[in-house]
Amino acid sequence: MNLEGKKVLVTGGAGFIGSHLVDRLIELGADVVVVDNLSAGNLSFIEEHVKSGRVSFHKMDILDTEALKGVLTGVEAVFHLAANPEVRLGEQDTWVHVEQNLLATRSVLEAIRSMEPSPDIIFTSTSAVYGDAEVIPTPEDYAPLFPISHYGASKLGAEALISSYSHYYGIRGVIFRFANCVGPRLTHGVIYDFVRKLKDNSRVLEILGDGTQRKSYVYVRDCVDAMLLAWERSKRAIDVFNIGSDDWVDVNTIAKVVVEEMGLKDVSFTYKKVTEDGRGWKGDVKFMRLANNKIKSIGWKPKYSSESAVRETAKYVISSL
Ligand SMILES: NC(=O)c1ccc[n+]([C@@H]2O[C@H](COP(=O)([O-])OP(=O)(O)OC[C@H]3O[C@@H](n4cnc5c(N)ncnc54)[C@H](O)[C@@H]3O)[C@@H](O)[C@H]2O)c1
Repeated sequence: MNLEGKKVLVTGGAGFIGSHLVDRLIELGADVVVVDNLSAGNLSFIEEHVKSGRVSFHKMDILDTEALKGVLTGVEAVFHLAANPEVRLGEQDTWVHVEQNLLATRSVLEAIRSMEPSPDIIFTSTSAVYGDAEVIPTPEDYAPLFPISHYGASKLGAEALISSYSHYYGIRGVIFRFANCVGPRLTHGVIYDFVRKLKDNSRVLEILGDGTQRKSYVYVRDCVDAMLLAWERSKRAIDVFNIGSDDWVDVNTIAKVVVEEMGLKDVSFTYKKVTEDGRGWKGDVKFMRLANNKIKSIGWKPKYSSESAVRETAKYVISSL
């Protein structure tokens, strides 16, 4: 894929997945504009590109539609990643995901529709839209979609808005429902929490839930490759792809991998009961694995299994914390 001469914008480009996407876009020759309010992002992830002049960085909130319009001139695609990804917050705070994920996506779409021609929108949705799916691996056409978290609900709402904007205004949309995406620069999630806890206390690890939660993990560079491939190959006005590895791994195994990689011995695991059915928190989907045959059919293949993605990530988090 050659992106020489193409200008693209990444919202949330200073975040975990966003900064890897920016690395790849630069490798492919694109002119990259990054918009990020740095609420969770880290400018050091993309600093090298900003200094070299390959990335133009704007510290901006995507809820500011007028400001966004000001940086969209000549942009052919908006990779919309900025969001609040913390599922756990939803039970206490019923506003944050509605504002940061749903209304913020509307703001991005409003800015996009004001441009002539309108850039494509490439959107990072989530497996959380499926809720507790009864079919596993879960395919893209699984229904009904009943998310069990405000995070999942806000992302499903954002997908729906992308569909309606696509229909009204001829905007092309490609939606990705990611499994758990992990890798270098990760700053949240179960691997990060385990390493942090074990650095504080290397004898006891408290696990939220019963440890049997089992999910699919996908390496961040695999996620980025999938997004670019589908943007290039999908021929539909609006399309949706699951992105997940071929297998899954449970939380007890993740704990063992982290302990091994930290070189610890005799760590005892304790379990904090949060819900009757052993979830890590309310809104946590306990079993998640996505059917990935659709994205595979256009030429994508994950390079990492769930466990190897977790292991590589653990190594990085251990060295960075
Ligand atoms: N990491 C995963 O496992 C995973 C799984 C499924 C979906 N996703 C989605 O992928 C995207 C990226 O996730 P991530 O893990 O890299 O998270 P992240 O928190 O590292 O990145 C999000 C970025 O968006 C920025 N941001 C947040 N709100 C903003 C706003 N209002 N205006 C401007 N910038 C804002 C943050 O500063 C941060 O840099 C998110 O949309 C997330 O929901 C992530």
